[in-house]
Parts: sequence; structure tokens; C-alpha cells
Amino acid sequence: MLKQLLIGEMMGRRIDLVEVGAVIEGSPVEVNPSGLPSLVVYRIGDDFFVTDNQCTHGNAMLCDGFQEGDTIICPYHDGGFDIKTGMPIAAPCTIPLQTYQTTVESGRIYIDCAYPEILSAKVT
Ligand code: FES
Repeated sequence: MLKQLLIGEMMGRRIDLVEVGAVIEGSPVEVNPSGLPSLVVYRIGDDFFVTDNQCTHGNAMLCDGFQEGDTIICPYHDGGFDIKTGMPIAAPCTIPLQTYQTTVESGRIYIDCAYPEILSAKVT
């Protein structure tokens, strides 16, 4: 509920997360923008992806996990998610991970809270 309200207040806002050069493939970067949950920024090739930081199975932070290509492996129980879609791909994870639409401009990575997938994923 709190998360939904926070996201609602952020609608229409583009949020600056981090500079492109700070995100290296295989080394997810934790970011903590005001008004949003802790997030992780991943690099896959020349593309960037953002998910919630907390694993949907427990209290692990995925920034401490292991990125293997398009997959993030949780450091607690070795569950896994597809970074691009947030879908769980390895047990014990069964609940999708929140993903965010990203844009890159002038060497910085942003998420845009106007994109509907952010809101649709919050309403359960
Ligand atoms: Fe992430 Fe259990 S806390 S797999």
C-alpha cells in the first residue's frame, strides 16, 4: 500500500539514478532514489535495466547477488530472476520482481514513472 502511494506520487516524473559509467556488466549497482524502494541498475551489453533491490522471496538485496548474463541470482537461496522481465526463473523464487522502464540521456540512466508497467505491477 505504502509503495503504491509512493509510486502514485512519483507519476510523470523522470528520476535520475546514476551515471552510465558507474554501471559495469556483471556488477549490479544499488541506488536509493527518494520516494522509491531501493533499486538495482544492471548493464547487459549496451543496455541498462532497473529492478527492485529486494528479492521477492525474502529479505535479500539483489545488489549483493550474482549477475550471469540476463539473470540475477539471489545471494540468500540462489533463486533467480530474468533481469529484463523480472520473471522468476529459479526456485525458490515464484513472485516476479518489479522492473522499471529506463532511458539513457547525456550519460545518465533514468527511470520514468509515467510508464504504466510501474503502476500495473503495484496493483495486486
Ligand atoms: Fe532471495 Fe530467498 S531471499 S531466493
